[in-house]
Parts: sequence; structure tokens; C-alpha cells
Amino acid sequence: MSTSHARARPAETLHQRRDAPVHPAWVRITHWLNALAAITMMLSGWQIYDASPIFSSFMFPPKFALGGWLGGALQWHFAAMWLLLFNGIVYLVLNVASGRFFRTFFPLSPRAVIRDLASALTGKLSHADLRHYNAVQKLAYLVVIIDLIVLVLSGLAIWKSVQFPLLRELMGGYDSARVVHFFAMWVLFAFLVVHLVMVALVPRSLIAMLRGR
Ligand code: HEM
Repeated sequence: MSTSHARARPAETLHQRRDAPVHPAWVRITHWLNALAAITMMLSGWQIYDASPIFSSFMFPPKFALGGWLGGALQWHFAAMWLLLFNGIVYLVLNVASGRFFRTFFPLSPRAVIRDLASALTGKLSHADLRHYNAVQKLAYLVVIIDLIVLVLSGLAIWKSVQFPLLRELMGGYDSARVVHFFAMWVLFAFLVVHLVMVALVPRSLIAMLRGR
């Protein structure tokens, strides 16, 4: 944890008493539902992509793709889509309305990101206090939240491109909405790889996301 976290923060004492869980129950529940939905959508999306690749030289290995065939993959993709959407709305509304969103992810500055990244790369970043995210975590979580919103909107532009012409045109048309969707998936994939490595390095954080403490 960066040194800035060691300073007393009187404004937070009300919300973050020592006996309060590290992550409230609704954060844990929405996190795991989101993980299930996002991973299901990514793996079934690979199968859908393979049925009609954007780049003919690139295909996903069938053994990692979910659904077995195009029809099966579409069923998984559409089922997980509703979970991702409604669970994401619950997470965002509760987070913003409770003020947790701003307390948890801000303040955030490029200087703090560079400082915490340098500390992490030299093994000097402390993870003693799981209640506060370091600047690199804050940035990563904000990026993946925005990325999921881009994934949902570009997916909507592909699925209902006739019904949402403005959204389709904002994405640069149907074909480029597919490209946006494809590259936003890679951002999600990259986040997931780094996220899982970090969780493996600090297993206590997994217990806290499961049990709250
Ligand atoms: C199954 C794989 C996953 C595991 C084991 C996992 C584990 C965790 C853990 C342990 C934390 C807390 C980190 C800490 O306190 O230092 C966390 C937070 C978070 N994870 Fe995951 N995660 C997974 C999948 C995902 C996926 C797929 C996404 C998004 C697409 C995601 C997004 C987030 C976000 C945004 C937070 C911060 C939540 C908040 O405090 O509001 N995670 N995750």
C-alpha cells in the first residue's frame, strides 16, 4: 500500500469502522455474479466470433470456446447478458448512491499510479490494508468498469443495430461496432489475467472478497 494510505482520513472513519467488513455483502455478491457473467460472455463470444471471424487469420481455439456451436453459444451469450446488465446496474447504483464509488476509487492521479506501479514492480507495495485500493488497482477497476459499459453498448449496437441507429453510428457503423466489441473483449481478457495473478499473489484478498473479512 502506498504511504498516502497510512495517513489518517477522518472523513472515512464513520464508514470504515474496524469491525465493518472489508467489502460489504452487496459488493461481494455483485462481484461474483459479475465474474460469472463476464467470463461466460467472453467464452461464448469466442465461439460466436469463430462462426464469422472479423480477421480471417485469427480464430479462438475451439476447446476454450463455450457453447459447442453458434446456436449454443448465442444462448449462453444472451442468458449471461441479462445477468451482466442487471447485476452491473445494481452494483453501479448502490456504489454511487452510497458514496462508496467516490470513496473507493478516488482520489486518483497519474503521479500516484506511477508511484504505486514503481513500488509494485520493486516489491515495495504493501497489501497490509485490504480496505484501501492502491492507485494501480483503482485505475484497473475503473478501466474494467468502463470497458464493461463499452462491451454492453457495442453489443447492443450489434444485436439491435436497426433499432438503435444512433448507437450504431456512434460506434462507426455495424462493422466497426463489431471491432469495438472485439477489442473491448481483449481489454477484459488482459484485466482478468492481471487480476487473477494479483489475487494469487495476495490470497488474503480472495478470502476478503468471499467472506467479507
Ligand atoms: C473468477 C475470477 C475472479 C477472482 C478470483 C476475483 C477476485 C477479486 C478480489 C479478491 C478482489 C478484491 C481485491 C482486493 O481487495 O485487493 C476483486 C475486486 C474486483 N474485481 Fe474481481 N475477481 C475475479 C473476476 C473478476 C471479473 C471477471 C471482473 C470484471 C470483469 C472483476 C472485477 C473486479 C472489480 C471491479 C473489483 C473491485 C470491486 C469493488 O471494490 O467495487 N473481477 N476481485
